[in-house]
Amino acid sequence: MTHTPPPLLPVPTIAVIVVAAGSGQRLGAGAPKAFVGLDGRTILRRALEQVFAGPLAQVVVVAPADRVGDARTDAELAAGERHDLVSVVAGGQTRQASVAAGLAAVWPDVEYVLVHDAARALTPPAVFGRVVAALEAGAVAALPVLPVIDTIKRVADGVVVAAVDRSVLAAAQTPQGFRRSVLDAAYASADADHTDDAALVQASGGVIVTVPGDDHAFKITTPADLERARRLVAGASGEAAASPPALPRVGIGTDVHAFGGDGDLWLAGLEWPGEPALYGHSDGDAVAHAIVDAVLAAAGLGDIGTHFGTSAPEYAGAHAGAFLARTRQLVERAGFRIGNVSVQVQANRPRFAARRAEAEAVLSAALGAPVAVSATTTDGLGFTGAGEGVSAFAVALVVPAGVPEA
Ligand code: CTP
Ligand code: MG
Repeated sequence: MTHTPPPLLPVPTIAVIVVAAGSGQRLGAGAPKAFVGLDGRTILRRALEQVFAGPLAQVVVVAPADRVGDARTDAELAAGERHDLVSVVAGGQTRQASVAAGLAAVWPDVEYVLVHDAARALTPPAVFGRVVAALEAGAVAALPVLPVIDTIKRVADGVVVAAVDRSVLAAAQTPQGFRRSVLDAAYASADADHTDDAALVQASGGVIVTVPGDDHAFKITTPADLERARRLVAGASGEAAASPPALPRVGIGTDVHAFGGDGDLWLAGLEWPGEPALYGHSDGDAVAHAIVDAVLAAAGLGDIGTHFGTSAPEYAGAHAGAFLARTRQLVERAGFRIGNVSVQVQANRPRFAARRAEAEAVLSAALGAPVAVSATTTDGLGFTGAGEGVSAFAVALVVPAGVPEA
């Protein structure tokens, strides 16, 4: 069954299928694994809280057929105000059948599908962000991996047959992300059972890029894993204390444009009638462009050319609002929220004093975070002093959205 979201809310372009329909034989906890308690919360609820702290997405929970109601309760508790994003469907005999059931409930507008094991309940939201960023950068499939630490041997009948070079090996985690059309096609043509979706897509010829996984994305499989997860959420373990806190990150951006464009000046998100225009691929708004570079740099997402270059013709002639709104979306999808931005313009004109507050309001609204604007002249020195153009310098702070609670 395909549901559609209420009409007034933004329609996500991402869906996360959370598979939770397994029985948990190896855990042996007397209940399906996803419904075993970690603290006051089940494994499923904890997994979904991590999902909701990540990029905005439709969330499809796949539960055992006789646990759909319990799963819906957990999902609504985890989703809070965004319960419109969640649906619950019954799973199948195998993980692959469960994913297929989830895929059938993905909304029509969704472009990227992430498949995630509920059993990886403590996966940090930033891992979701990295997978989405890889897909948005053009990958058809993205897999979080960790390097293999143990020395690996090939064995047969209780005897070591060969050593295996671990440098060419990686341990696969979830969420595994796919362009929706690729995953749909792989599932439509699946003729064998695979242990994960990356294997299925690879069997149908797709190239899968890797992104860094995370120690906290381990799969709760055995009683020892459950103990580890319980210690982590209780904050009682040396392991939790040893994991570094998620620090805010800063980025810097500068931009320069020369006077000589057509029409009126656009600068700091404002139109300045009667002022000479700046020359540029878009509107030449050096202030907006410096902010974009600073914010992208803070989130480690490249620079303005990575996302708004000449291969993105829709940004030719675009104004600050379009650049900043898209930048915010990119950064939030990568698992950050924007803290604040400070930007300084160096120019003889326009004179900012009378419109500084207006510029701050426009830029802050577009970016969804406070933007402070200051302006200075350069005492007649340099190209700004000579009135040939303007420079802008921006510093941005971004904050990782959510890490496993101590
Ligand atoms: N899964 C599923 N449907 C299945 C089998 C597994 O949705 N028929 C899900 C599990 O709920 C889990 C994920 O796939 O979140 C990874 O599977 P695994 O860790 O093997 O979980 P279980 O199959 O429940 O555990 P076990 O193999 O020990 O029985
Ligand atoms: Mg299993």
